[in-house]
Amino acid sequence: MKTRITELLGIKYPIIQGAMAWVSLPPLVAAVSNAGGLGILGASFMRPDELRENIRNIKELTKNPFAVNFMPENPELEQLLDVIIEEDVPVASYGKGNPRRIIERTLSHGIINLPTMGAVKHALKAEQDGAHAVIVQGTEGGGHTGYISSSILVPMVAKSVKIPVVAAGGFGDGRGLLAALALGAEGISMGSRFIATKECPIPHLVKEWIVNASEKDTVVTDNLTGIRCRVLKNEFSQRLIEMKERNVSPWEMMQHARGRFKKAFLEGDLKEGSIACGQVAGIIDDIPSCKELIERIVKDAEDMIIPMKEKVLAS
Ligand SMILES: Cc1cc2nc3c(=O)[nH]c(=O)nc-3n(C[C@H](O)[C@H](O)[C@H](O)COP(=O)(O)O)c2cc1C
Repeated sequence: MKTRITELLGIKYPIIQGAMAWVSLPPLVAAVSNAGGLGILGASFMRPDELRENIRNIKELTKNPFAVNFMPENPELEQLLDVIIEEDVPVASYGKGNPRRIIERTLSHGIINLPTMGAVKHALKAEQDGAHAVIVQGTEGGGHTGYISSSILVPMVAKSVKIPVVAAGGFGDGRGLLAALALGAEGISMGSRFIATKECPIPHLVKEWIVNASEKDTVVTDNLTGIRCRVLKNEFSQRLIEMKERNVSPWEMMQHARGRFKKAFLEGDLKEGSIACGQVAGIIDDIPSCKELIERIVKDAEDMIIPMKEKVLAS
């Protein structure tokens, strides 16, 4: 399956594994890239030396393109960019924030800029700044998320920008891929769906928790300095909501929330960890390998094209 995204990134299928701090580590990134998608290293909290080690680890596991995700506001941004450039990372992934230094430093090295945005105006700005393509995440998505659903946001962005758009937030199967293409995207990026895969290096019980969760089991916590985060409901998320209702200060909430992603995804604490996950949990019901998952999604999407055409013509 070819789109402008597969051509731009040099990958076989228009499927990207969304960056996930503490989760999208070398085994998952490499498995996705080896299967013909694009794996993204979740490096938001990595120091420069850790980043280099992780990149080298990925390079030992795959020869295919992959990306590194980091925060534009990271105080060590210059050193992180040094590592990314020195290690010849093909694709840079980042979120909202000032991308000036990233663009200035990466474009001349031929690094593809693939930021993730949650609003039309931010996608337009990313295009003006020099991004090669943009991932657009709707509110269904796991982790930090906006207000507008993918079915509205993706076509709005696709109509507004000329660069290729990748749809994120709520995608997990062949129907989703086909729908994303119909909405004007040229690929999908999935976070939550890739957590429940064999190669994802997190405790098995967290994957099972996601498989058993329904579409109604997530909640958006306006925690951590006001950043909205979609997580699975548990004791910790419930407590955060109660703290907010009691008007506990953002600072105190931030202290309370510190280290909770790690608690969930490294320690497997399902009660007290923050299990970032999207509403797509409702359609996740197995733990395949990344290769099985990606090939199934592409095949199901392709198999549905002709029946869909017939359905439309029959009416
Ligand atoms: C556990 C988890 C951690 C995440 N961490 C990051 C991150 O560090 N940086 C980032 O840009 N996005 C992060 N995201 C968002 C994903 O990259 C992706 O855009 C999102 O999961 C897409 O929605 P979906 O969960 O419905 O597939 C995270 C999402 C999850 C579920």
